[in-house]
Amino acid sequence: MGLFGKGRERAPKVDFDHLPRHVAIIMDGNGRWANKRGLPRTAGHAAGAETFRRIATYCKEIGLEYLTVYAFSTENWKRSEEEVGAIMGLLKKYLLEAIGQMERDRVKMRFFGDLTPLSQELRDLCRRTEEISTHYEGCQVNICLNYGGRDEILRAARAFAGECAAGRAVPEQLDETAFSGLLFSAGVPDPDLIIRPSGEVRISNFLLWQSAYAEYYFTDVLWPDFDQEELHRALASYQGRSRRFGGVT
Ligand code: IPE
Ligand code: IPE
Ligand code: MG
Repeated sequence: MGLFGKGRERAPKVDFDHLPRHVAIIMDGNGRWANKRGLPRTAGHAAGAETFRRIATYCKEIGLEYLTVYAFSTENWKRSEEEVGAIMGLLKKYLLEAIGQMERDRVKMRFFGDLTPLSQELRDLCRRTEEISTHYEGCQVNICLNYGGRDEILRAARAFAGECAAGRAVPEQLDETAFSGLLFSAGVPDPDLIIRPSGEVRISNFLLWQSAYAEYYFTDVLWPDFDQEELHRALASYQGRSRRFGGVT
């Protein structure tokens, strides 16, 4: 950025002692990033995967407790076989590298979503990543894969109905805490801040239950161009807000 910084506000001040506990990101805009450069959409996904690596590493460095990223939705299967295959290929590459560096990085990883439609190889890699990192403490990265907020809620409802039908539970037992415990995100606090790059202003089936009181940050920056400075803008914006949770401050 030059002296007259093209319309973008100055580097925002982030209070790193009071970060949100949990930041979630809808990693959107890979296809448009590639289109703008005359590249195939898959090149955008490759660039997006690099951005994920950089941002996840940075989140760990600044001491963020939880980072959840939306990598592939239950609706993304509508895309061409070629595109879906490329995304799965990038995921495999990422997981193989992550497993190789786990002892160094010590980032705890979890996957939210129904992994059954993925290849056996990918499923094994996801499970291995989770197992190796189970006992790591500090930073947890949750990757949402074949994830849909509605699908997650339905599964939880079905699971609880099953318990009732089997006589192991009664409907009155179900409260918000118990229901949260039936979701993919069981044990993870609700997101404080949800970031969506790419200019779209919608939730696209992401963390529907968990986002009840989340703060949102939308930016036109496309995910492959998302950087530390943009993350700082999101964090500073979050820190300037008054969260009331229905009360009065
Ligand atoms: C996000 O980027 C990646 C996935 C949804 C898998 P997109 O591929 O949706 O990029 P745009 O929205 O078409 O630019
Ligand atoms: C949301 O982005 C899903 C991911 C980023 C993985 P989409 O690109 O699929 O969302 P829509 O179609 O624009 O709502
Ligand atoms: Mg998109």
